[in-house]
Amino acid sequence: MPGTKLPDLVIGDLRFNPPIVQGGMGVRVSASRLVSAVANEGALGTVASVGVGEELADRTPDYPTRSELGLREVMRDTRQLTRAPFAVNVMCAVTNYGQLVRVAVEEGAAAIVSGAGLPMRLPALVADRHVKLIPIVSSARTAELVCRTWTRRYDRVPDALVVEGPLAGGHLGFTLDQLAAPEEYRLERLVEEVLGVARTYGPGNGAGIPVIAAGGIFTGNDVARFLRIGAAGVQLGTRFVATHECDAALPYKEAYVRCRREDIITIISPVKMPARVISNDFVKRILRGEKVNFGCPYHCLVTCEPDKAGYCIAQALLKAYRGQMDDGYPMCGANAWRVDRVVSVRELLDELVEQAEAELRRS
Ligand SMILES: Cc1cc2nc3c(=O)[nH]c(=O)nc-3n(C[C@H](O)[C@H](O)[C@H](O)COP(=O)(O)O)c2cc1C
Repeated sequence: MPGTKLPDLVIGDLRFNPPIVQGGMGVRVSASRLVSAVANEGALGTVASVGVGEELADRTPDYPTRSELGLREVMRDTRQLTRAPFAVNVMCAVTNYGQLVRVAVEEGAAAIVSGAGLPMRLPALVADRHVKLIPIVSSARTAELVCRTWTRRYDRVPDALVVEGPLAGGHLGFTLDQLAAPEEYRLERLVEEVLGVARTYGPGNGAGIPVIAAGGIFTGNDVARFLRIGAAGVQLGTRFVATHECDAALPYKEAYVRCRREDIITIISPVKMPARVISNDFVKRILRGEKVNFGCPYHCLVTCEPDKAGYCIAQALLKAYRGQMDDGYPMCGANAWRVDRVVSVRELLDELVEQAEAELRRS
């Protein structure tokens, strides 16, 4: 790699430096404070749109209306705090997918990042080609499927691909069996395989579609490793939770600082995908099969079967975001046990950049 400075993450006409993406984190864990702080450092911040309207439930009983108002409010608050471009994450698993994508575009999202399912019809929802479309994939096979389908149906390829490996936080695109064999699904290997697909579908100048590596990236050395194998950037979630600017309440962040390796477990969430969480009394209750605070005021997830689910994940995540840890759980990546303190976004990014640059100089 020439020089020692980290390269820009280039996505079409957008450039980010450091080449670091703060992944979208619901419910409200990545909202205006975190996203603007990241954007103001030159990196790419991502608003999580899932469940964002639930803070407005008291004043707006109608679910679609408050989802729309909630996302508009968070994006406008973010815009008040930064002039830099930022992304919006919309999970494919939500029942109001089209609505959230439309609102994100209307409110000026620079990019839509979309996973927890494959965003096959995303280009049909976004006419403006300036808005970058970034699918999250977990294999070369799914990357190929998205690229081939978008090319055929929409004459369009993704502007970047996020490859999320099995160590990531949030919902995981792997089965529990696959998660039990982490060596086979090492992120390095997934990134190399997806780079093969990205080169085939690139814009024709040989550069390929930029590939962003995500899941378990913790240190600057990790950042350097993925840049060296050809990733255009890296996406982190867990490390951004443990920042002062992260929008979640302090008890959420303290759960990260306190947790031990054995407290981090994967459960099958009502989304019907594995999700990694920090175990607590609430998690123990749902794992025992208890029905907890159950009631489904709306059907917010395509895959959730309210009559079979023991609890409402939207409510559980909202409560955790507010710091009511007895009524919900924090999601986290596999490396959350390594978090030992809460720092500012600037400190975190400075640390990652300094280590990554030193590592690249060494090699
Ligand atoms: C608390 C938390 C919530 C998350 N929520 C979402 C989400 O709403 N949508 C999504 O696509 N990814 C979500 N993720 C995944 C992150 O965006 C990111 O890709 C991932 O955490 C990277 O792995 P790391 O945590 O090991 O850095 C979440 C992750 C965490 C830790």
